[in-house]
Amino acid sequence: MACADTSNPSIAAASVAGVDFDEIHDRQQFGSVKWANQWDEFSPRVEGEDLLSLWTADMDFRAPETIVARLREAADHGIYGYTRRDPRHYEIVQSWFARRHNWSPKLESLLPAPAIMPSVATILRTFTKPGDGIIVQAPVYSPYFEVVQGNGRVLLMNRLKLEDNKYELDLDDFETLAASGAKIFLLCNPHNPAGKAWTLEELAALNAICERHGVLVISDDIHCDIRLSGRPHIVFSSISEDAAEKSFICTAPTKTFNLAGIPSATISVANKKRRDKLLAAMQASFMVNANFFGRLALEVAYSTGAPWLDQLTRYIAGNIDLVCEFAREHLPGITPMMPDASFLVWLDARALDRRVEGVQQFFVNRAGVNLYDGRVYGPGGEGFIRLNVGCPRSLLRRGLERMANALVSS
Ligand SMILES: Cc1ncc(COP(=O)(O)O)c(C=O)c1O
Repeated sequence: MACADTSNPSIAAASVAGVDFDEIHDRQQFGSVKWANQWDEFSPRVEGEDLLSLWTADMDFRAPETIVARLREAADHGIYGYTRRDPRHYEIVQSWFARRHNWSPKLESLLPAPAIMPSVATILRTFTKPGDGIIVQAPVYSPYFEVVQGNGRVLLMNRLKLEDNKYELDLDDFETLAASGAKIFLLCNPHNPAGKAWTLEELAALNAICERHGVLVISDDIHCDIRLSGRPHIVFSSISEDAAEKSFICTAPTKTFNLAGIPSATISVANKKRRDKLLAAMQASFMVNANFFGRLALEVAYSTGAPWLDQLTRYIAGNIDLVCEFAREHLPGITPMMPDASFLVWLDARALDRRVEGVQQFFVNRAGVNLYDGRVYGPGGEGFIRLNVGCPRSLLRRGLERMANALVSS
């Protein structure tokens, strides 16, 4: 049985001419973080021979040709001065979310941002004080820990419950944390690393608790567009007026269209007072001017990228099927969790982790495959590894085969 749900209408769309997700590209020439196996020049590097890089969350595919062509035109223009967005920019964002996610934010609610994480940092600094509690749901994208602690706020860890190879909310614990004086809940929707799209019932339950205790919500929706399971992406602020009033919805086309190196993001803030305050804080940090290429890429992506995205979604679903089938037959002790969204697969390797004393390092040393260590994602991540399947299938297969061989010879 296939893991991905190919009855999802967005997966069943027609092909775009000329798109070849199987093609392998050399990314090292342009400073790729993923292929350098090092996040930045100040971070430790994962050392290994001939490493296959299946870790950090960007893809090894070319962006849609419409984007490449427009950026090429802009590059050829040769003048890369200060850039502003015009009203059409916001209409394009609004139209994308209306068409793809049944959410039509008011145009005036939309603020521009350089990227998601700087926006999260600015929201935390603007609406909380040092020492204030911020709820996150671990295991989760680890920069959440850094942005909270690095800005002098206190992490309140609401651990997800692992039940039958799926994550469920612990609402009792969430309520205890909210009641303890938490100021903001940092929601990851869909959730990274597990790719879980939260349901209406789950979001409504979280919202009700936040409402009772006066907790604001930052929702990071960066992984919302690649929908694999047929489960819709529900934007937190679309569930009710009070949810919209308390939330900051952070969106970007960067994961969807592989634009992380030329980021551009949008934050929707329905509450006018908070929106004005956030804009003032962003202006004070000189964050509002557009990046010349980032602005353009966002507009072209959202206006023309849908057919490419549908084709990408089909390809990713095929890669996930490969992982599931291969794991069942050749990776004893490793169980993939089926994501609802995006191109990341969370692998439960706890038994193996104990046996080899560190599964991530084991695969680096013995298979030449670099995956993300689940420990990075905080409590509950121990013994898991995150596999990025946003790559040509032959490369993914090579990685899986190397992993299987390492297990056989261990
Ligand atoms: C959940 C999540 N949020 C934010 C980001 C990074 O966003 P940005 O590069 O726009 O700061 C990532 C990147 O992996 C992510 O997975």
